[in-house]
Amino acid sequence: MAIQIILPFLLLQFLNFHELHAQISPNISLGTSITAGSSDSWRSLSDDFAFGFYSLPNNLYLVGIWFNKIPERTLVWSANRDSPAAAGSTVRLTFDGQLTLTHLNGSVELIYRGRRAALGFMGNDGNFVLRDDGSGVVWESFSSPTDTILPGQNLSGNQKLYSNANGTVDYSTGNFMLEMQYDGNLVLSAYHFSDPGYWYTRTLTTNVSLVFNNYTASMYLVNSTDLARVKDVDLEGCKKALTDDCDSLAASLVDSRCIKKRMPLLNARKSFSTKGRQALVKVPMKSSPEHKKKNDFDVRVFLRISVIVTATLAFCFGVSSIYYHPAPRSFIRRRRYSNANSIGINFQEFKYMELQKATNGFSKALGRGSSAKVYSGILSIKDMHIDIAVKVLEKSIEKDPSRVEEESEEDDLVLSDWVISCMAAGKLETVVGHDPEVLSDFERFERMALVGLWCIHPDAMFRPSMKKVTQMLEGTLEIGIPPSLSDQMSVSNYTY
Ligand SMILES: *[C@@H]1O[C@H](CO)[C@@H](O)[C@H](O)[C@H]1NC(C)=O
Ligand SMILES: *[C@@H]1O[C@H](CO)[C@@H](O)[C@H](O)[C@H]1NC(C)=O
Ligand SMILES: *[C@@H]1O[C@H](CO)[C@@H](O)[C@H](O)[C@H]1NC(C)=O
Ligand SMILES: *[C@@H]1O[C@H](CO)[C@@H](O)[C@H](O)[C@H]1NC(C)=O
Ligand SMILES: *[C@@H]1O[C@H](CO)[C@@H](O)[C@H](O)[C@H]1NC(C)=O
Ligand SMILES: *[C@@H]1O[C@H](CO)[C@@H](O)[C@H](O)[C@H]1NC(C)=O
Ligand SMILES: *[C@@H]1O[C@H](CO)[C@@H](O)[C@H](O)[C@H]1NC(C)=O
Repeated sequence: MAIQIILPFLLLQFLNFHELHAQISPNISLGTSITAGSSDSWRSLSDDFAFGFYSLPNNLYLVGIWFNKIPERTLVWSANRDSPAAAGSTVRLTFDGQLTLTHLNGSVELIYRGRRAALGFMGNDGNFVLRDDGSGVVWESFSSPTDTILPGQNLSGNQKLYSNANGTVDYSTGNFMLEMQYDGNLVLSAYHFSDPGYWYTRTLTTNVSLVFNNYTASMYLVNSTDLARVKDVDLEGCKKALTDDCDSLAASLVDSRCIKKRMPLLNARKSFSTKGRQALVKVPMKSSPEHKKKNDFDVRVFLRISVIVTATLAFCFGVSSIYYHPAPRSFIRRRRYSNANSIGINFQEFKYMELQKATNGFSKALGRGSSAKVYSGILSIKDMHIDIAVKVLEKSIEKDPSRVEEESEEDDLVLSDWVISCMAAGKLETVVGHDPEVLSDFERFERMALVGLWCIHPDAMFRPSMKKVTQMLEGTLEIGIPPSLSDQMSVSNYTY
């Protein structure tokens, strides 16, 4: 991964400044421009950094800032990493105080558009700054970082670094993202794959910034004033604070403090320590023409649906992969989530006896497939009662001998595949048939179950982006039934 942290010793390279003083002016006046292919650049007084066209091997150029005094000029910022410009293009600080990139064909891209700048300045710290008449900063490259954070630079409220696609070979936006989230969590994720984060700091306090201290060369998180917390509010006040904040998805009310949360929502659970707390979760409003009368959203239904979706879908990874068939098979779809804890999901193994007890001796069946039955039950873990669904795989039960081979492979099918096949058969009710409350809001359940199935698809390529998930939940994006892995490997027919 190429999120680079450039240490300041590079800045301390010895050089005789005085010789250069005469020719370097870091002040860029309006009307100044640089042409791609020329050797011009706007250099900092120390000559450590330069702004201009950074040459790529294929005779294309990136408008960027690079370390200028080391032999291998290293790019630390770029304005057009995903669309390099051809030789002859120009970057200009225009007379009306905007920063533009003009392509050969005459089309103009605005790097900075806004309040009129009076002066550009290439700082010794690598920050290119546009100032107004009163020397106020109107724009700076530090506030729109690309893949690098420099000493003296901070990441705050929702700022992100994206890795390069391929080191110093391809500077376009890569697969990994470091985000300083509004909720205080610093998260590394493979964002293309709807990854909620493979590393995070869990620093969910107030508006937190990642600081790269230019004196100590250390990096740390600081929190200051309240952005994510609203003090002295009641439930209504917390609800309002949440509704007014487009960036928050949920909130919890703890002792009159309303703590707002953003995605990803991690480790939400009920325990002793959450006693007396209230949680608020935003859900999409129905805005379709066939408006239902039932406008008031029942949070209990939502939570129950969530529990059922979670129980149903999480257990496809949990129970069915660790439970019945420990014997090795040629056809293995059971994945090992050895780093499950690091992504905030805790799997636990259960003994057959425990599950037998939890399901009251497998007494209450939810439904059955051709080779398996699913039972409902309640697990007691640390004084919590959790609804579960347990799939019990049976040995070959088909009468048709020509299908036996296939059927025994089906023993390995995971529960999500069962849900998918229920859906495909138009019989999703089977999954929640025992719960009238869910059935009463079935459309919503169906949508959420579909989103859940896409998100946990065993093939990461099928998993939707967070943006798509939002659209799916809002109902603005049509959702199809995800392909199940077994569809590609054998024909599975379920009968009910
Ligand atoms: C750059 O401009 C500022 C503000 O106009 C001025 O104070 C400063 O002396 C200039 N620096 C150089 C090196 O020209
Ligand atoms: C001009 O060229 C740029 C860069 O090649 C391209 O992105 C842009 O679409 C072109 N504009 C027109 C109007 O052709
Ligand atoms: C970065 O954060 C530190 C500590 O909060 C602050 O002193 C400094 O001014 C910030 N730097 C920038 C460029 O915002
Ligand atoms: C990255 O670039 C190197 C050198 O050109 C190349 O060998 C390698 O295959 C590239 N990697 C990817 C993932 O494109
Ligand atoms: C650190 O940053 C501050 C503010 O940008 C600057 O005044 C100071 O000279 C920098 N110190 C070093 C050692 O670079
Ligand atoms: C900053 O974070 C610390 C540690 O989590 C916390 O104790 C403190 O209350 C926070 N400060 C503010 C102003 O919220
Ligand atoms: C925290 O949030 C407040 C209110 O939005 C803002 O004024 C302040 O600059 C933020 N602090 C940091 C360090 O981002």
